[in-house]
Amino acid sequence: NFDSLLTPQDHLSRRASDTYYVNSDHCLRAHTSAHQHTLMQSGLDAFLVIGDVYRRDEVDRTHYPCFHQIEGVRLYSRDELLGKKSDGENVADLFAAKPDTERLPEKQETHSLDATKASEIQLKQFLESLCDELFGKEAEKRWVDAYFPFTHPSYELEVFYNGQWLEVLGCGIMEQKLLESAGVTDKIGWAFGIGLERIAMVLYGIPDIRLFWSKDTGFLSQFAGKSPTDEVKYKQISAHPQVIFDLSFFLPTTSVQFNDMTSDVYDTIRNVGGELVEQVKLTDEFENKKKGKKSQTYRIVYRSHEKALTKEE
Ligand code: DAH
Repeated sequence: NFDSLLTPQDHLSRRASDTYYVNSDHCLRAHTSAHQHTLMQSGLDAFLVIGDVYRRDEVDRTHYPCFHQIEGVRLYSRDELLGKKSDGENVADLFAAKPDTERLPEKQETHSLDATKASEIQLKQFLESLCDELFGKEAEKRWVDAYFPFTHPSYELEVFYNGQWLEVLGCGIMEQKLLESAGVTDKIGWAFGIGLERIAMVLYGIPDIRLFWSKDTGFLSQFAGKSPTDEVKYKQISAHPQVIFDLSFFLPTTSVQFNDMTSDVYDTIRNVGGELVEQVKLTDEFENKKKGKKSQTYRIVYRSHEKALTKEE
């Protein structure tokens, strides 16, 4: 979690007030970056890691001790990044030669400036298109300089969405020492990390991170079965309890297109029940082949924003 990522001994993130220590040898994963070393060592040069991460923090609307991140790493060989050398051609190298072996704001001591710039272009293009995919091409983006112990140079990508600048991710050119300690000596790479709940909150209008832990079907049903391209806007759920009814009936034998009935039933239930209907779901179907009849069961969840409903109501 810290050592393999070159995190300084006195770095804030190591404090027991920030990280959950199980004992002196173990802590709960505080970021998905923790897997960079092992996965590079195993020989991978492009990977994504998705996982739950744990941080000690006050709990409020935007903070919860457990959340999720996605981590991405991409390593390049010289030829992949800068193109193949043809005979006698003088093309840049990944690594710096004297006198350019100094750490500067724009590069690490061991990297050539050309290789750093080329990786940076790849990194930024990749993450900008990810951002376009998530927030739409129209959304304005900006790169902000940042610091992470495991990258140099480091950046954060921000996007202007819903009237404010949102920090989407941290990233940078991976520290070469990190690659070397994982046994990678002939490549250079970039990495990024994204907090997933924060992005989902903005995209779907979820006002409180604690809602992700809700088992309330009024919350969960709003996302069930949706695909990433569907437009989803969270509708506030009521604090009052649900009243559940199951309703089953035989479909009219005249309607041959049974399957087309379902959305008619949904509409009818919503028309009759109005605002009080929180969810409708087809839960069972039965066909009596002999009699040529088919029945359906619908579960209707009623819930009011004003009060606890009685069964009669
Ligand atoms: N691990 C960082 C965090 O949790 C996020 C991050 C920043 C990941 C930069 C990276 C990176 O891979 O290159 O805040």
